[in-house]
Amino acid sequence: MNTYKIAVIGGDGVGPEVCREGKKVLHKIAELDKGIGFEFEDFPWGCEYYLEHGEMMPQDALETLKKFDAVYLGAVGFPGVPDHISLWDILLKIRKGFDQYINLRPIKLLKGAPCPLAGVKREQIDMLVVRENSEGEYAGSGSWMYKGKINEVVIQDSVFSRLGCERVIRYAYELAKKEKKTLTSISKANALNYSMVFWDQIFEEVGREYPDVETYSYLVDAASMFFVKEPERFQIVVTSNLFGDILTDLGAAIAGGMGLAAGANINPERLYPSMFEPIHGSAPDIAGTGQANPLAAVWSVSQMMDFFGYEEWGKRILDAIEQLLTEKKSLPRDLGGSSTTEAVGNEIVRLLERA
Ligand code: NAI
Ligand code: MG
Repeated sequence: MNTYKIAVIGGDGVGPEVCREGKKVLHKIAELDKGIGFEFEDFPWGCEYYLEHGEMMPQDALETLKKFDAVYLGAVGFPGVPDHISLWDILLKIRKGFDQYINLRPIKLLKGAPCPLAGVKREQIDMLVVRENSEGEYAGSGSWMYKGKINEVVIQDSVFSRLGCERVIRYAYELAKKEKKTLTSISKANALNYSMVFWDQIFEEVGREYPDVETYSYLVDAASMFFVKEPERFQIVVTSNLFGDILTDLGAAIAGGMGLAAGANINPERLYPSMFEPIHGSAPDIAGTGQANPLAAVWSVSQMMDFFGYEEWGKRILDAIEQLLTEKKSLPRDLGGSSTTEAVGNEIVRLLERA
């Protein structure tokens, strides 16, 4: 039997509430599949921890997490702690510290999921965005000079290294090749005359190793328009950190909303644990009310199963979500129902059992 050690960081607000349901799904899988087991350890890190200890997580947190096969994260951030602290001191620390340089975000309109686009068929929205997750516009490099003075200047650098661009672009090509899908690079070389010219050049260079992959290249502004007007243009998408961040929220909006959007932070070499999370935040406005939709957190468990090599289970979880959406009996509030977070989780587990 393969036993996987999962570090659970529920975090703040609805984070722990949705993670609880995701864990239920993993427990059920272990029960149904004698070949798979999970060991969980919960870590109480996040904003509450910060208010008590003056840090979002202990200094040796990465050392502690290193021993796990995966990190399962809810959400961090809460009123009272500045967002840049909660984001940089836990999420980005883990992403960077564990070299999770790939961010995988499926944008797939499941059967029964709401779509705000008129006249779009479900089959038209089915893509996977591969977002660069370690550098680019989020490298954290820059300076702030003459603070508060009339000549105040801020500079925010973008960092695009050859290694950083090549590895994410190659990952995307490999995926497109394996899944026999088209690959689209999204950049902005007309305006960003260093970083994006370089990105485009590397996209082309690496592409020479993959003559069978059909490729497209769009400027990010045009791509945003096509996400809405002709989403069927996209299958596998590769893009920079900032563009990927923005485009995947747009993607979430056209594919069922934030309650259904999941993301995986992957270290492909498996030198460090990868991290799976819903992409929504801690939703302080509904925390504690039982209204949070756990389906994004459940979808990220599906990504975790794919990553562990159990794609059959990954698919079964998605099928269960799809069934819940089409049966419409146990929908959470944001999808027009009245079921609690826990009731939605229980229904997913029941559907998994039935499949
Ligand atoms: P948010 O995603 O927490 O909430 C935006 C809206 O979506 C709210 O109306 C909320 O009620 C709703 N929503 C979010 N998740 C939901 C769910 N599972 N079910 C039903 N409704 C849901 O974004 P917001 O309000 O901008 O940020 C709140 C806090 O979360 C901030 O402190 C922010 O920094 C943090 N945050 C953390 C993230 C992370 O941990 N990955 C990502 C985004 C924000
Ligand atoms: Mg975002």
